[in-house]
Amino acid sequence: MENKFIPVCEPLLEGNELKYVSEAIKTGWISSNGKFVKLFEEKFAEYCGVKYAVSTCNGTVALHLALISLGIGKGDEVIIPCFTMIASAFSICYTGAMPVFVDVDKDTWNINPNLIEEKITARTKAIMPVSIFGYPCEMDKIRKIAKKHNLFIIEDAAESHGAEYKGVKTGNLADITAFSFYANKNLTTGEGGMVVTNSENFYKNALYYKNLCFPLDGSRNYIHDDIGFNYRMSNIHAAIGLAQVEKADYYREKRILNGKMYRELLKDVPGVFFQKDIDYVLNVYWMNGLFIDPKIYGKTRNDLIFFLKNKRVDTRLFFTGMHKQESLKKYGCDMKGDYPVTDNLATNGFYLPSSSSLKPEEIEHVCQLIKEYAKN
Ligand SMILES: Cc1ncc(COP(=O)(O)O)c(C=O)c1O
Repeated sequence: MENKFIPVCEPLLEGNELKYVSEAIKTGWISSNGKFVKLFEEKFAEYCGVKYAVSTCNGTVALHLALISLGIGKGDEVIIPCFTMIASAFSICYTGAMPVFVDVDKDTWNINPNLIEEKITARTKAIMPVSIFGYPCEMDKIRKIAKKHNLFIIEDAAESHGAEYKGVKTGNLADITAFSFYANKNLTTGEGGMVVTNSENFYKNALYYKNLCFPLDGSRNYIHDDIGFNYRMSNIHAAIGLAQVEKADYYREKRILNGKMYRELLKDVPGVFFQKDIDYVLNVYWMNGLFIDPKIYGKTRNDLIFFLKNKRVDTRLFFTGMHKQESLKKYGCDMKGDYPVTDNLATNGFYLPSSSSLKPEEIEHVCQLIKEYAKN
């Protein structure tokens, strides 16, 4: 174990991935016309428990497509957590709307529902909760606020395939939801995304804008009434996706076992904290994020990362808050205000290796190193 490199995340492709990809190639159906696209969409919708699913070529454009399907654009504001991956904010900028930041909760690291209402203005059109690291947001509270102020909810579930809030999966918790299938995600297509919804109207909009606004009746007169996008997923990617979703419960279980093992092995180490699990939430542990309190642990986050790197254990820093992003400042976002929880996470947090393929002895090894280093 000593010298073995442990990557932060690797894909697990243990089902029909190769068989389906070979079929796509052998039959020549390699673009977005091909049976795997439809089959993957149907199977993913079924997995989430929603009526409609529209595949895309990545998660960032899935978010953009979700926003434009709701009619969000210039002059509108969309509320997002300050602690998220930049794609949540950029997708809003693509529409011409303005991302507005809300700090996250210190225990769940998700948007803090108690701070949302003070950010609502006459221009607010939607809230975009992000189920960070696979942990679903406090949806009852968010839905209550959305209803009171007549706002849409777009969930950024890029990191939380199969996660549940009160027994309901992400994908079925909002008006519209976007997923990513990047190679490090719990379900992957290499690059890919999906928009899911129960609204026929939003579904049709997503189909229309995703395919250059070709008419949905299939006519090909090359007259386009609106400006659309080419966000299509290829049949090759969908072939991988179908094989992945066929084994979605298996892949989810692997992540959950890893997450639980990390928490069990590190529970008595002073000064290291995970997102706090609560009984009505099923966290799928996309990434095992660790928060280090240097005063208690005795070492800083950066010291620990360096130590682990020297022991060939790969890790990643947490996201930097949206209020610190030069790109969003240039775009015109309001960068004022304090986001203490986001800042604390960004300074003291990092992810541990989290692949579905991790072996128990690898997790034990990583935890042993973290314990050892604390005592040094
Ligand atoms: C929270 C979040 N939103 C959006 C995305 C964007 O997904 P993609 O990389 O597939 O474009 C990611 C990707 O990691 C993410 O973590």
